[in-house]
Amino acid sequence: MAVTAKAAELKAAGHDVIGLAAGEPDFDTPQHIKQAAIRAMEQGKTKYTPADGTAELKAAICAKLKRDNGLDYTPKQVVVGNGAKQVIFNALLATLNPGDEVIVPVPYWVSYPDMVQIAEGVPVFVTATAAQGFKLQPQALEAAITPKTRWVILNSPSNPTGAGYSREQMRALCDVLLRHPHVWIMADDIYEYIVYDGFEFTTPAQLEPALYDRTLTINGVSKAYAMTGWRIGYGAGPESLMKPIASLQSHSTSNACSISQAATVEALNGPHDFLKTWVPDFQKRRDIVVEKLNAIEGIVCAKPEGAFYVFPDCSALFGKRTPAGKTITNSNELMAYYLEEALCAAVAGSAFGMEGFFRISYATSEKALHAACERMAQATAKLVS
Ligand SMILES: Cc1ncc(COP(=O)(O)O)c(C=O)c1O
Repeated sequence: MAVTAKAAELKAAGHDVIGLAAGEPDFDTPQHIKQAAIRAMEQGKTKYTPADGTAELKAAICAKLKRDNGLDYTPKQVVVGNGAKQVIFNALLATLNPGDEVIVPVPYWVSYPDMVQIAEGVPVFVTATAAQGFKLQPQALEAAITPKTRWVILNSPSNPTGAGYSREQMRALCDVLLRHPHVWIMADDIYEYIVYDGFEFTTPAQLEPALYDRTLTINGVSKAYAMTGWRIGYGAGPESLMKPIASLQSHSTSNACSISQAATVEALNGPHDFLKTWVPDFQKRRDIVVEKLNAIEGIVCAKPEGAFYVFPDCSALFGKRTPAGKTITNSNELMAYYLEEALCAAVAGSAFGMEGFFRISYATSEKALHAACERMAQATAKLVS
C-alpha cells in the first residue's frame, strides 16, 4: 500500500513511473462482451436480479464448468458474487466458527489471511519454497491438518507466483485430502485460462470426484476476460454450502450488477478466440521479464506456469547499500528503492507472506517491461556491498 501510494504521488508529480503492481490485464474487455452489456441496458435488464445470480448466468456457469472442467453442477449449486473475492469472503464468513483453522499456502494472495481473520478463523500458514516451485507439498499439507482444520485454500495458477499444479502434483494433494474428510477444499481457479507451454490446468473436484462434495470451486471473469471492473465472480459447490453463502450475500450486497451479469453470459458462452492472442502475448512478456530479471546480478527468477506474475528472489541484495547510504534489509526497502531510483512500482514479497522476494505483474506493454527491467538493472548495479 505504501509503495502504491508513493507511486501515485510520484506520477502526480509528473514522474514517469512504470507500474508493475496491478493485478489486472492491460487488455480491454472484448467488444462482443461490451455489446452484450449495452443490449442488456437497452432491454431493461437494469433491475434487481435473484441475489445469487440470474438464471441465464447460472446456466452459462454450469455449462462452462461442464465444458472446461467436466464438472456437473446444477444452478442451485452456483452463487454469482461481486467478484470472486466476495464469494471467497462469504464462504469463509458463512462457515468458520471462532478458532477454526484455514490452511493458507505461502506465498498467498493478500486477501486470504485477512478474510479468514475477519471471519474469526485462524490462518495456518504453510510455506512452499522457491525450490518447491512455490507449490504446497503433500507432506506439509498433511502435517498442517488438525481436528480444527475447516478449509485448505488452493490457488492454481497462483497469485503472486504464477505457479500451477500439474495433474500429478494436484493428485498428491487430493490423496492427502481424501484421508481427512473433515477438511474442505477451496479451489481458486481465477487464472485457469492464463497458462503457458502447454500446461494442463486441473482443479480438485474434477481430478478427484470423491472430493466434489466438499469442494468449493471458485472462478470469475476478471482476469481471463479483462473484466476486473465489472465485478463478476462465482462459486460452485454442494447446495448445503451454497445456500448460506447466497443467504449472506442476499442480506448484505444483494445481486452483482445486472448488466455485468448479462455481459458475463456472453463472456462465458461467446467466442474465446481473443485468448489465442492474449495468452501468447502474456507468455512472451513472461519470457522477457524472466530473462531480463535473471540477467541482473542478485536476482533469481523462476519461470512460472501461468497467471501474469513473476516472483523473483532478491534476498542476495539484502545488506547492500544504496547510493544515498541506506542499507537494504528487506523487500519493502528494495521496492521503495526501485520506486525512487528506477521509477518502477512492484510489490514486496512480505505482502504475500514471503520475505526475500517481490512480485512483478507483467500485464503491461513489452516496451514498458523492457524499460522497467533496464531501469531495475541499473538501479541494482548501483547497490554496493
Ligand atoms: C488469486 C485471486 N483470487 C481472487 C481474486 C479476486 O478477483 P475478483 O474479485 O476480481 O473476481 C484475485 C484478484 O486479484 C486473485 O488474484
